[in-house]
Amino acid sequence: MDFQSIRINGDRLMQRIEDLATIGPHEDTGSCRLALTDEDRDGRDLVVTWMKDLGLEITIDGIGNVIATRPGKMEGPPTLTGSHIDTVATGGRYDGNLGVLAGIELIETLIENDITTRYPVGVAFFTDEEGARFPPDMLGSLVYVGGLALEQALEVEGIDGAILGEELDRIGYRGSAPCPGIPPRAFVELHIEQGPLLETEETTIGIVTGVQGISWTEYSITGQSNHAGTTPMHLRHDAGYVAARITTEAREIAKRMGGRQVATVGRMQFHPDLINVVAREARLTVDLRNTDEALLLEAENQMETCIRSLEESEGVVINSRSLARFEPVVFDSRVINIVSETSSQLNFSSMQMPSGAGHDAQMLARVCPTGMIFVPSRDGISHNPSEHTDRDDLIAGANTLLQSILTLDAKDLSGVEQ
Ligand code: GLV
Ligand code: MN
Ligand code: MN
Repeated sequence: MDFQSIRINGDRLMQRIEDLATIGPHEDTGSCRLALTDEDRDGRDLVVTWMKDLGLEITIDGIGNVIATRPGKMEGPPTLTGSHIDTVATGGRYDGNLGVLAGIELIETLIENDITTRYPVGVAFFTDEEGARFPPDMLGSLVYVGGLALEQALEVEGIDGAILGEELDRIGYRGSAPCPGIPPRAFVELHIEQGPLLETEETTIGIVTGVQGISWTEYSITGQSNHAGTTPMHLRHDAGYVAARITTEAREIAKRMGGRQVATVGRMQFHPDLINVVAREARLTVDLRNTDEALLLEAENQMETCIRSLEESEGVVINSRSLARFEPVVFDSRVINIVSETSSQLNFSSMQMPSGAGHDAQMLARVCPTGMIFVPSRDGISHNPSEHTDRDDLIAGANTLLQSILTLDAKDLSGVEQ
């Protein structure tokens, strides 16, 4: 049969999205499945059941990445798709989940249409993509590609004090497949955009050209706790004030630099955290991102200058700890072209764009030809229970993924090109 005419089953895809969202539900439409929690385990169990139902060969590696593969006519590494099924604590139902469930759907479509690909086709979900509980983000795929030693990853401490390796054992997902894993033939990830560009441009498919660089730093500030009513302003060593200044500086850096520079303070804690006590300690995180490495370094330098000057002026000590640092990634031009040609063959409007969010694909790009497909996010909202993508767009994305994987399967990828 002419493979270009086959299409995924939209109802089945929507049903699986719905079913997975019932695990760790959050505010009606959202999901809370932080990595390696009971909810993550239950979500994994459901997805693995679907993979088993399709008769796929399933491997679980030492960091809990799960890969399900259908054989091709030839042996060798699979053409791989997938994403993640962990969420932030206040997440939506599409971030990551779409890419995994569309991967399962595309394999079911191949089975139904009796299409045997040249090479194996696989669908993966990678551990702890969000990094919201155990930093850095994309931790599972980072270990998969050899960017972080397994032993080191297993020792990562979560924001709740849990140890990653212990949690992996507890939920029963420490597997025996080796890390780093075998590089796939190619990797394509379908994901919601999580930003406003596609919707604003009334465009269905985002052809992702790369992922911006990410810098995550935790600052621990130590000052002196003292009485809020009696301590003159000039005698204070106020960790809370310094945390607030770092927060406003993050915004100012992004404003001054303009372009694609973004900056976020998403976590902050005070100690002793009382209304009438000057805070002795504060801890906060800064997330800086830019598509240009030199500009990201510039933003980091500006923050460092601010940190040193606050230490001096307020008489506090500020310790910094890097939680994640990834340079911007450019995707393989062959994969970009295939996604572009596929979306026009399917008559979907499309545009090229970089990704603002981090993705497992940026790690896989280190070891194989890689690309991504985006579909629109309503109002550009994500990491929020109201995250939404229209059914037609989800299905358009899944069909673009299906046809891109089939085209990649048919193509000779032996030439080196990044
Ligand atoms: C992770 O997905 C991130 O972009 O923060
Ligand atoms: Mn994601
Ligand atoms: Mn996310």
